[in-house]
Amino acid sequence: MRDVAIIGIGMTKWGELWDKALRTIYVETALLALQDAGVDRVDSMVVGCMSSGLFIGQEHLSSLLSDYLGKNPIPATRVESACSSGGLALRQGFIEVASGISDVVLVGGVEKMTDVTGGEATYALGTAADQEYEAYHGLTFPGLYAMMAVAHMNRYGTTRNQLSMVAVKNHDNGSKNPLAQFPSKISVEAVNSSVLVADPLRILDCSPVTDGAAAVVLCPVDMAKKMKRPIIRIAGSGQATDTIALSSRRDITWLESTYLAAQKALAMAGRKIQDMNLFEVHDCFTIAEIMITEALGIAERGRGGKAVEEGLTSIKGKFPVNPSGGLKAKGHPVGATGVAQAVEIVKQLRGEAGDRQVKGARRGLTQNMGGTGGSALVHVIEAD
Ligand code: COA
Repeated sequence: MRDVAIIGIGMTKWGELWDKALRTIYVETALLALQDAGVDRVDSMVVGCMSSGLFIGQEHLSSLLSDYLGKNPIPATRVESACSSGGLALRQGFIEVASGISDVVLVGGVEKMTDVTGGEATYALGTAADQEYEAYHGLTFPGLYAMMAVAHMNRYGTTRNQLSMVAVKNHDNGSKNPLAQFPSKISVEAVNSSVLVADPLRILDCSPVTDGAAAVVLCPVDMAKKMKRPIIRIAGSGQATDTIALSSRRDITWLESTYLAAQKALAMAGRKIQDMNLFEVHDCFTIAEIMITEALGIAERGRGGKAVEEGLTSIKGKFPVNPSGGLKAKGHPVGATGVAQAVEIVKQLRGEAGDRQVKGARRGLTQNMGGTGGSALVHVIEAD
């Protein structure tokens, strides 16, 4: 297996981008990544997208996007794994370069979610839940995560304020990210009194509906060295699955697929969780971040709420989580999120994260998941 470097990153402002088509958002971002990498050559591209069919009526994205980028006839592949489609695209690009099949691979993620009504967006997202056992009975993702939150609160004593502190922390970080959809600070009181979506989750516990894209350029480390690029490598990649239906899980307060994917990625990198300087994780709802910190081993089981309360996961804490603002403040264009997490880690490792820079960051971890954890992707990214 060849060592794989990330030599270019690209991301544009996320939000409600009514004046831009999906293809435009993707191409703008991909061009930024190619420019940053200093390459024009692309051997292959992989794009993560969850549901362009339901959101904008457009499938066959692989060929459409390579055409609009001016890269036909290169091989182009679209991958889907619900909200972890971007993480899966990164892993597929990594495998393609590591195996020697391609040298320069452009990995992108994109989603355009705001052209439909809120109800239609909720339906499209809900297709990633179990249709027969969950969606058919009226369950939505806020509803599913609300059940996980109630179970966690009952079993471990996680509090309403601890959920809010996740949102406050991530909005604090997001306020320093000019590309974030909601770069605004909020307070615990504001979260606690925001509109109830699915008890106990309020609107400020939820990631928003977002348009956006992100891209990275991968190549073998040897090639990156010849190009005199700073060496930032994907040192580990892990993927795991779990039941889609919450009702089939042994324990709905535990994210087994995240735990397993992290174990695999860390083993490949030869690292422990304590070796990581920062984390970009899938805080689609505040309770998700709390459970993820436990599954990764940042916090003990049941103590994820305490971890945020004690400041362990703040930018200045021992384990900074979501310095970008996370899905909560940066936004969550579902297919793009996993790639954007890698973009943030690379910015941090290069020391280019501005006011939200984690001091001395050399190693970071991304965690991206689909649905309520039916799929999970973890990557370890390191600077030489
Ligand atoms: N965080 C902060 N502000 C938000 C927000 C969020 N998650 N969602 C909407 N807002 C803001 C909007 O900008 C708008 O502000 P404005 O009045 O100043 O313009 C206001 O709140 C109302 O927005 P609206 O679009 O009408 O909200 P909505 O009720 O249609 O949608 C949610 C709110 C929470 C239902 C929606 O964001 C949602 O479904 N989020 C979860 C997405 C999801 O499930 N992703 C997959 C995860 S697995």
